[in-house]
Amino acid sequence: MEPRQISRGDTNNAFKNSDIILKGELHTGGQDHFYLEGQIAMTIPQEDNNFLVYSSTQHPSETQQIIAKVLKQDFNSIHVVVRRIGGGFGGKETQSFLFAAITSIAAKKTNKPVKLRVDRDDDMIMTGKRHDFYFNYKVGFSKKGEINALKVMMASRCGISADLSGAINDRAIYHIDNAYYIPNMEIESFRCKTNTVSNTAFRGFGGPQGMFCIENIIENISQKLNKDPAEIRKINFYKENTKNETHYGMKITDNVINDIFENLKIKSNYKKRKKEIEKFNSKNRILKKGIAITPVKFGISFTTTHLNQGGALVHIYTDGSLHLNHGGIEMGQGLMTKLALVASNEFGLNYKSIKISSTDTEKVPNTSASAASATTDINGGAIINAINKIKTNLNEFIYDYYKTNSIIKYENDYVYFDKRKISFKDLVNEAYLNRVALSSSGFFKTSKINVNKKTLKGRPFLYFAYGAAVSEVIIDTLTGENKLLQVDIMHDVGKSINKRIDKGQIEGGFIQGLGWLTTEEVSWKSDGKLQTHSPSTYKIPTAGETPFKFNVEIYERGINKENVVNKSKAVGEPPFMLAISSFIAIKNAVFNANDKKESDKLIAPATPENVLNSFN
Ligand code: MTE
Repeated sequence: MEPRQISRGDTNNAFKNSDIILKGELHTGGQDHFYLEGQIAMTIPQEDNNFLVYSSTQHPSETQQIIAKVLKQDFNSIHVVVRRIGGGFGGKETQSFLFAAITSIAAKKTNKPVKLRVDRDDDMIMTGKRHDFYFNYKVGFSKKGEINALKVMMASRCGISADLSGAINDRAIYHIDNAYYIPNMEIESFRCKTNTVSNTAFRGFGGPQGMFCIENIIENISQKLNKDPAEIRKINFYKENTKNETHYGMKITDNVINDIFENLKIKSNYKKRKKEIEKFNSKNRILKKGIAITPVKFGISFTTTHLNQGGALVHIYTDGSLHLNHGGIEMGQGLMTKLALVASNEFGLNYKSIKISSTDTEKVPNTSASAASATTDINGGAIINAINKIKTNLNEFIYDYYKTNSIIKYENDYVYFDKRKISFKDLVNEAYLNRVALSSSGFFKTSKINVNKKTLKGRPFLYFAYGAAVSEVIIDTLTGENKLLQVDIMHDVGKSINKRIDKGQIEGGFIQGLGWLTTEEVSWKSDGKLQTHSPSTYKIPTAGETPFKFNVEIYERGINKENVVNKSKAVGEPPFMLAISSFIAIKNAVFNANDKKESDKLIAPATPENVLNSFN
């Protein structure tokens, strides 16, 4: 793959005009998806050389296309069905195809059903992971800490084939600014082919790696200036009316990071705790504490513009019950619950009247992967579109049949017009008897987005999701171990469709990010074989790693200004990056242990070994 570049301003001149220049290197590790349900697929031969495929995949349509190509058949002879999957996290966006293709080839050869479930070790050896990144940077800034110029060379391990590496590295470029306005910037991104497994999508899709880079740079700036990192972050934030355009030319019009950051600082008692930590550290030689507050600004939409489309199919039966189908995959993120709520709100029906059947390539075709956190946005939009079409049919029937032109309201299982109140069930039954169509497909495409594929400039995202986290950590300078003492989070989900689900995503995303940055280390033996291929050699976070105090709050004033279902915001990936605060808190503890000199030797993940190696 060709390297990509993006730039703005006059970086070389800006370096000349900067008070201070810092240079350095950064590393982030890879990450195994460790979904609870491993890769699994089953293919059942049908009549007429057709095949029914059950696959644990985030992408039924591409599963269908890949199998059809492998078997040299038309797409319409392959039928893929997915009820739900036991976790995906990006690891079943493309990696699942291999297993479904194998079962399909074997089913065609033997004309018998074939099922394949791989052993956990084989799964970890065979499947791609998060891309690990290397960054080489030069940053120029004022004595106050305002960034003037940034030059970054980034290189990622893509593995033996391209898979999704292009788009993942593009997203790393798009998130290297995180929440900060950087007037002069030059980024060069190398996508390296290596003799290792083909790396793939993983929650955040390159965004976490980009943000990790800038958050470490900001921390290094504050250490150099001996100032509170929260202040350096704040002065560099995107502003409301000026300093609000990203390096890729998108105007930020929904910025709430300043509000979230200030609120969280107060709620978490950041200032007071920082002072207490200073006191603790002055009294303790072996144990050292650290604290950090970091922001998240994450772009929502697939950066590959055409993927931002969704489809749905809605039937109403004559008893008033509603059957719903759409292109999204339930993987534990609560999608089906959210979409059933969207449908029930639109028709004013009890949630229990809604049934969503398995995601199915014969019901909704040409779907996009359930990824980029946009599944509710695009499939919810398609559901509303289908329901609006049925509502139009019903409304026309009401005008005609009941001889009215009054406003019609659908509420609490009833339909209201004139002074009448008819149960939804009676209305649809009457409509059926009068030959009114009670079923419709629906379609949605995200508006406003566009990207120049060569320059990467344009508006790749419809909107941004924002959040911030404060982490307080303690490290043992003899063993390198760390423990998270307290985490406070404030996260923007717009106007939530379901607060419990959103909170679950925030907590889960944070802990998974914590694993990436502290315990999960992917490593290879010198002969190139994966060393970390089972839970005995690869440590995912557990209840033991959860902070003693874990305060998660949804940003109360959250609202999506764009045309998105319920004015809500995507929540699947953004909270993952809140965990960068924990890594930076460990970095702060190392800085404190190093007599406040530096901590830039710390690489991710901050395992005990890497923490020990970062001491002076
Ligand atoms: N939550 C659970 N429980 N399981 C998962 O596999 N995947 C994450 C996130 N939350 C995942 C999850 C990833 S990588 C993405 S992109 C989003 O969910 C996808 O779903 P959404 O678009 O509905 O948010």
